Amino acid sequence: MKQQLERIKVTAENEMAGIQSVSELDSIRVKYMGKKGELTSVLRGMNILSKEERPIIGQLANEVRNYLEEKIEDTKKKLLDKEKIERMKKEVIDVTMPGRRRNIGKRHPLTIVLDEVKDIFLGLGFSIAEGPEIERDYYNFEALNIPKNHPARDEQDTFYIDDSVVLRTQTSPVQIRVMEKTKPPIRIISPGRVYRADTVDATHSPIFNQIEGLAVDKNITMGDLKGTLEIFLKKLFGDEIKVRFRPHHFQFTEPSAEVDVSCFICKGSGCRVCKGEGWIEIMGAGMVHPKVLANCDIDPKEYSGFAFGMGLERIVMTRFEINDLRLFYENDIRFLNQF
Ligand code: PHE
Repeated sequence: MKQQLERIKVTAENEMAGIQSVSELDSIRVKYMGKKGELTSVLRGMNILSKEERPIIGQLANEVRNYLEEKIEDTKKKLLDKEKIERMKKEVIDVTMPGRRRNIGKRHPLTIVLDEVKDIFLGLGFSIAEGPEIERDYYNFEALNIPKNHPARDEQDTFYIDDSVVLRTQTSPVQIRVMEKTKPPIRIISPGRVYRADTVDATHSPIFNQIEGLAVDKNITMGDLKGTLEIFLKKLFGDEIKVRFRPHHFQFTEPSAEVDVSCFICKGSGCRVCKGEGWIEIMGAGMVHPKVLANCDIDPKEYSGFAFGMGLERIVMTRFEINDLRLFYENDIRFLNQF
């Protein structure tokens, strides 16, 4: 039995010397010290020994067991260390390696200017409203004092979805939606896409963007409209520009005007951008028609309002001297990178 124990000690030790992994070490532990392990069965067989032999063999067996247990722990530590070092070698990071260059996106010029417009009007106490692009004929036309069969309908080539639903041709229907829901005082702007059946060229697109403005309260006058737009346009185009109102006609405003700014390229003397005019037309505006207020259950005897609508593309083209509207929609990175 003594020899058996010695042999177990030596062979277990030899086996441990050659192994590479913790799992191999585990099976060695089971093989010798497990429930059915070799050392365990030697210990079980001790009952056949005499009283004198038992403590001697018992002590030796304990020594072998302790020795092997220690050896196993030790080997395990070494193996884990080795594994860790190897793992770290594989995971090594070369901090001197050059980074991967990413193409950073840019804000679209339409977004840049729209954000500026929003900021200016938010600063003037306006808030931002939105409306649907697929709109009822009622909101796009009728409530804006453009009845069916009225010649004013021909001014805008409309995409009809059916008799009573259109792709909105202007952002003015948002005026109606806001006035139906909100009682004065009202001060909103409403940017968004509009649709007209136009053929694409350098200045026309079937989809473009407008920004609508509306203010309704007691005692709102044409003076408020002029003052508001003058402040807005000077903030957008610079303090030196001049603003001019020309009489015009819209069904939903009375009186109506078209608003021009003096050409900021030639300062009014006439150039390519303003086509020799010295002025650039920038928006339509006017005092909200009493019928339009009444359509929204706002009493025109008590309240008055002004409204305006501008084409965003037009403003951005003027601002950055862009001569072709199609550039906005082509997503050509060489164009977009310039802003
Ligand atoms: N909706 C008009 C257009 O598209 C612009 C406008 C808006 C005019 C508000 C007056 C008041 O031409």
